Amino acid sequence: MDLEKKLEQKNIKQFQEDLISWYEREKRDLPWRSDSDPYKVWVSEVMLQQTRVDTVIPYFNNFIEQFPNVAALAEADEEKVLKAWEGLGYYSRVRNLQSAVKEVHEQYGGVVPSTKEEFGGLKGVGPYTRGAVLSIAYNQPIPAVDGNVMRVMSRILSIWDDIAKPKTKSTFEKIVAAFISKDKPSEFNQGLMELGAVICTPKSPMCLHCPVREHCSAFAEGCEKELPVKSKKKKPALKSLAAVVLTDEEGCFYIHKRPERGLLANLWEFPNTETIKSLKPEREQLAAFLKEQAGVEAEIGPLEGVVEHVFTHLVWNISVFFGKTLHKPNHSYLKKVTKEELEQYAFPVSHQKIWNMYMK
Ligand code: ADE
Repeated sequence: MDLEKKLEQKNIKQFQEDLISWYEREKRDLPWRSDSDPYKVWVSEVMLQQTRVDTVIPYFNNFIEQFPNVAALAEADEEKVLKAWEGLGYYSRVRNLQSAVKEVHEQYGGVVPSTKEEFGGLKGVGPYTRGAVLSIAYNQPIPAVDGNVMRVMSRILSIWDDIAKPKTKSTFEKIVAAFISKDKPSEFNQGLMELGAVICTPKSPMCLHCPVREHCSAFAEGCEKELPVKSKKKKPALKSLAAVVLTDEEGCFYIHKRPERGLLANLWEFPNTETIKSLKPEREQLAAFLKEQAGVEAEIGPLEGVVEHVFTHLVWNISVFFGKTLHKPNHSYLKKVTKEELEQYAFPVSHQKIWNMYMK
């Protein structure tokens, strides 16, 4: 059956009513729901991309305490902003957010723009963020389609398109545009998100508690667990690294700032290098790297442990060493810091694990 037909068969008004009344009754009390300040909604939606609600809550509260409004974030030191994001991952999200907020501060007098064109034109604001913020904060009937919404709607309409394909997302945007309530778009979109989070979950949906079960084709057909169809991504590449917590005779540490582009841009890290198995021992490769890149000779101890970190397309396997410099580095590749200073800088989670290993 084609999509038009499937849509015609749905009682969309009743679906809206059932979803929205359930949402209004059952919605979780989340910090970004306490008011509809567009700035706060925006921050929450950026955090919630790729990150679970439970993880986001403390980060959101801390972030809003430090940067309570557009002006505060626009004027904040990037180092502080990255520190507040430390551990959330996907750091380009927050760098883009800060760039966009600066634009709002400078071009829009600090007021988050409410049109699709203006808000959607800001750095890092894609169709999901645009729809989420404009619907939740400004009550505009614009779809906000993420993986959760695709899961819910693929079940409601029994749609078997592969949600890993970019084209499928635009199919679901059309679907949500047809379903969305014009009276209560904020509650409608949040209702879909809430349903995906607490009822219509990936592995074991709680159909018996579902407020829109009567509208659900997958439930009627008994195929809710087979939907959505999502093709497997290829295996992430594996990269071996060796890192060293490097100290000097004063008990200071040497750290390095990552480049301003690419993976984990502008975050700080312990000096490390990619290693090649079957070349020299890792320790020697690390020592050679320190000498060439950082202009420092060091005495490096035995292997202390291995830290693994899984990114979307990449796995890091980091062998961890502790070392002492034998003289002052003659290079600016490394920054010398005290322990207290080190703790003010933002490190990726993998390097926080290295630090914890050192502190134990
Ligand atoms: N996931 C994405 N946006 C959300 C929101 N506003 N509330 C709950 N979960 C979400």
